Parts: sequence; C-alpha cells; structure tokens
Amino acid sequence: MPTHVLALDQGTTSSRAILFDRAGRIAGTAQKEIEQHFPRPGWVEHDPTELWSSQAGVAAEVLTRAGVAPSDLAAVGITNQRETVVVWDRRTGQPVHRAIVWQDRRTAPLCDALREAGHEATVREKTGLVLDSYFSGTKVRWILDHVDGAREAAEAGHLAFGTVDSWLVWNLTGGAEHLTDVTNACRTLFFNLHTGDWDDDLLALLDVPRSMLPEVRSSSEVYARTSGALLSAEVPVAGIAGDQQAATFGQRCTAPGLAKNTYGTGCFLLMNTGGEAVASANNLLTTVAWRRGDRPAQYALEGSVFVAGAAVQWLRDGLGIIRSASEVEALARRVEHADGVVLVPAFTGLGAPHWDADARGTLLGLTRGTTAAHVARATLDGIAFQVADVLDAMEADAGLAVSELRVDGGAASNDLLMQIQADLLQVPVVRPAVTETTALGAALLAGLAVGFWTEDEVDAQWQLDRRFEPAISPDEAADRRAGWGRALDRARGWAAA
Ligand code: G3P
Repeated sequence: MPTHVLALDQGTTSSRAILFDRAGRIAGTAQKEIEQHFPRPGWVEHDPTELWSSQAGVAAEVLTRAGVAPSDLAAVGITNQRETVVVWDRRTGQPVHRAIVWQDRRTAPLCDALREAGHEATVREKTGLVLDSYFSGTKVRWILDHVDGAREAAEAGHLAFGTVDSWLVWNLTGGAEHLTDVTNACRTLFFNLHTGDWDDDLLALLDVPRSMLPEVRSSSEVYARTSGALLSAEVPVAGIAGDQQAATFGQRCTAPGLAKNTYGTGCFLLMNTGGEAVASANNLLTTVAWRRGDRPAQYALEGSVFVAGAAVQWLRDGLGIIRSASEVEALARRVEHADGVVLVPAFTGLGAPHWDADARGTLLGLTRGTTAAHVARATLDGIAFQVADVLDAMEADAGLAVSELRVDGGAASNDLLMQIQADLLQVPVVRPAVTETTALGAALLAGLAVGFWTEDEVDAQWQLDRRFEPAISPDEAADRRAGWGRALDRARGWAAA
C-alpha cells in the first residue's frame, strides 16, 4: 500500500520537494535555491537545466531523509512558478535559451505596440489577462525572434514551448510527454478561457506556431508515470497546478466567495468564483482555479500586490531599523497605532487594482513624535491596506461578499499583521495549521486523482491554527481606510512628474 504523496514545488527562488503522509501531514521537506540571472536591467532568467536538476535532487533527498521508498509513493503532484517560459528542441531535449522568468520586462515594448494597435480588448476578453510582459506569450515570441534559427526550427515542428510544469513533466517522463494543465495554460496569452483550448487568433497575433504548444489537460488526473530519470519506481504524475492556484486548492477555497492571500515578497490574492469566469471591471485577472478530471473548470479572480514582505525588507536593509524581518512585529507592537503615519509602499509602482507604474513609496503624517515603531506599524498597515483594496475590487467584480480571508506565506506568521488585516477588512482572517498550502494543493490534486484520499478525508484534514476576528468598529475601519485613500492619491504618478 502506498503511504505518501510527493509534491514538487518549483518556485521562483527555489526548488522544493515536500512529502505528505496519509493524514495530510508534512513528512519531510527538501529545498535548493535557484540561481537568478539578470543579463540586463529588467531581465530575469533561470537555467532550465538547473530547474530540472535541482528539482530532481530535492525529490531524491526528501525521500532518503524521510526513509520513504519511491515505491511507497501513491503519486507525484507538480506546482510551479507560473508564466515562466522554457523553449527546447524536441529532438535533443536541450533548451534553446535560458528560461525567461515571469518578472522579466523585456517584452514591455512589444506589449505597448500590441496595445497601441488596439488588441487589448480582444486579449482581455479571450484570456482574462491584460497585455503585459508578465505573461508567457510575448516571451515565447521574443525567443523566436532573437535566437538564431529558432523560428525556422519552430516552423519545422522541432521546438517545444512549456511553462515550468511542462518542462518538469517532459524530464520526468524522459521526453515522452509534452503537456500542461489548464491553470498554467491560462497564463500564457495563448489560451481562450471560454473554449478551454489554445486560440488560433491569439497565436497568429503573437506569431507563435501552434505546433510548439503542449497538450492542455486537467489539474488532477494521471498524466504519465515517472521514468527512471527521477525515481527508481514508476510513480503516477497525477496533479499539476500553477503555484497560486495550488495554494487556493490547498487552502480549501473550493466554494464561491472563499479567498486566500499569500504574503510573500508581494501578495497574491485569489477568490473562487465557482463555475463562472467573471470578467473584471476593476483591473483584476480572470483565471482558471483548477479543473479536476472531467468536471467543469472552476474559476477565480486574481490580484497581486507588488510590495508586501519587501516593505519589511526595506525597514531592515534600507532604513536599518530592524536586524531581521521577524523583529518587525515586536517593534510595531511598541505603539498602539501608527499615530497618523501612513506608508504607501509603492516602491515599484502599484499593482491591482490601481495599476500605476509611476506611483512611488510615500511616507506621510510625520511629526516630531514619530518613532521607528510608528514607521514599522505603518509598514504593516500599508501591507494590509493594499490587500483590502484588492479584496474590495474582487467583491465588486464577483458580486460576492467575502466571509473570511485564508492566509499563508511568510508574513502570515506575523500575528499583529493578521490582526490589522482583520480589522481593516472587517472579516475574520484565518490561518491554517499547514501553511505549506502550495505544496499541499499539488499533493491533494494528485492524491485525489489516484484515490489515495477521498474528498471527505481531504476536507477533514484542513485544520485551523488561528482565527483573527475584527477588533475595531466598522466606522474606525472606514476612517483608517479613508486616510489610506488620501495617502494613495499623493503616491500616484509621482515618478511621471
Ligand atoms: O505568477 C508568478 C507566481 O506564480 C510566482 O510565484 O511563489 O514562485 O514567487 P513564486
């Protein structure tokens, strides 16, 4: 009888392997950092060979350390940094260029040109995305335009494109399978949310041959078995989802109106909208949450905040008022409130729902009495205000009221931040016992597909760590948010002037 499910989490900064036992508990983890390449300002690349070798390495390591044999695995689930592009030659399995990472801005001029040519509305309607270099499509086009011989090889059917999940599956199966799941497909700009398939008009617009694209599958089914390249046993690969969608599944946000936020360097918020792909009127993205086997796809609205944990890093590295990020809570607790100080951490512009690339960080309301503790407190406020703005936009778009916010990511362990978040949202903030929700989501998708867990078992596994109830009145929350709104106005457009 298999005893465990292995989740492979190939993220932007590291490759991780996490082993889950039948009770959904973590039985082991292994992690390896990924080298970041910055060939020019605004460019970010990864070495695809390293993505694979590090992932294979940590998978072997976690099994050895936990004393679990590959033959004890019921399934492997994959989750990954989304939108990042790998293009390789099918004949050799060799990448033709380094992976172009989601953060890479090199195709911004191409996106501008497409927008000026009037294509934004169609792209938005078909894909649920915006024309931005964040997504995969223009990055694939860049490789075809800039790598010697790439376009000819692609036209001849020799090149394969994949997001990181596809690249891992290709390698896990010794080059036998070229596929992706729908949550990754829908981040490419090639995928039509309404037909559930690649879209020939979008491919023509971006000038990318369809023959390069992987087959689109669900997020939970047996796709293939691993070849000897990774594990000595042939283990079913049975779950694939982009990391934010996997976290949403791991957080059990399985009904419309349930939302999760991951507090990392930035924040990624997703809200389940059920079987309906809700178009956003508030600058959010519409995305597939998951599709399980033959069941209908579930959708989500997504919004990201660019600077969250990064604001705490700035307190540490820029201002030097804390020595480690974990000190921020104690410093901020020295004061009851920020005493009128507001920090808009728009260091790299503002993301959803404001979308202002020219906004800049703004610190307002300073007096002779302002201390480092007030600035620390205003920093936590600034993170929570941004999240509240995205959640408001989601509620407005979906016509659904959020009843609680489920949280994970590094800064979710900051109790003060979580309390501030509940106060400003005026809904409870809920932190689960297992905050490795991304890996858990991938493991659940895989384990459900092979019958390792039943639905009921999975639902019963979710356990609460702590629930933060709003502790200020609705009027006070509204007052504080009005102050934030005034500060936002000052931050907007600053760099353009
Ligand atoms: O959209 C990008 C996102 O999937 C990256 O996630 O956790 O690797 O930074 P992460």
